[in-house]
Amino acid sequence: MTHSVVHVAAPVQPVYVALPKGRVVVVRPAEPSDSAAVAVLHSRCGPRTLHDRYLCPPPRVTSTTLRALVSPDGGCALAAVTKSGDIVGLVQVEAAREPGTADMALLVRDDYQRVGLGSLLARHGIRTALAMGFTDLTSRGTASNARLVRMLVRLGLGPYLRTDERYVQLRVPLADAAVAAGLDRTLDLTDSAREPVGAEPAA
Ligand SMILES: CC(C)(COP(=O)(O)OP(=O)(O)OC[C@H]1O[C@@H](n2cnc3c(N)ncnc32)[C@H](O)[C@@H]1OP(=O)(O)O)[C@@H](O)C(=O)NCCC(=O)NCCS
Repeated sequence: MTHSVVHVAAPVQPVYVALPKGRVVVVRPAEPSDSAAVAVLHSRCGPRTLHDRYLCPPPRVTSTTLRALVSPDGGCALAAVTKSGDIVGLVQVEAAREPGTADMALLVRDDYQRVGLGSLLARHGIRTALAMGFTDLTSRGTASNARLVRMLVRLGLGPYLRTDERYVQLRVPLADAAVAAGLDRTLDLTDSAREPVGAEPAA
């Protein structure tokens, strides 16, 4: 099935986030000019991380792949960017085949994992999908992706997970996902008070 590529600006403000060990990232909408940094992100992720992201051997990182990663079909991507401009995390919120459904995919650079960044990006993904008017959320990982499952359970999404031999699949009404993940029900997109790792609003 051929999808037309539609870039929809992410309706979110950049948010500065303090991570452990004095590291700071800004989470902001990805842009076409981020392609090179996204290629570097992939080069700095190990095979297991890339396999978990793509559920198969990772695709060749071509200009077409990069375009799709920063401007996903009918959706948007958010990047976590360091002070020096490195992209260390990326979440895509993409229109799924089912009407009204957003598919969410996450990638955190190996040396930035286990500091809360994946959870933070997932929460931003949920928030962004809601703000873009989607009603349901899906996400898929390999059945062996225990770290993804633990993260989704910690976000309160355990009841919406289904696992078969090959995949773990999240399927949840977005409103339920937002409540489970503790997002502000008023959807004040500048409110970062509930971010898990000390977010500060952009100046
Ligand atoms: C799944 C993935 C996104 C999780 O990202 P992450 O940034 O490591 O996630 P978090 O940091 O929020 O949580 C991971 C762990 O760090 C721990 N953690 C969070 N903040 C922490 C902190 N400040 N100090 C120490 N540990 C911390 C969490 O408790 C969690 O521990 P657990 O795995 O033992 O339960 C990441 O592993 C990844 O990119 N995997 C490859 C791609 C993928 O699987 N994508 C999903 C399918 S599309």
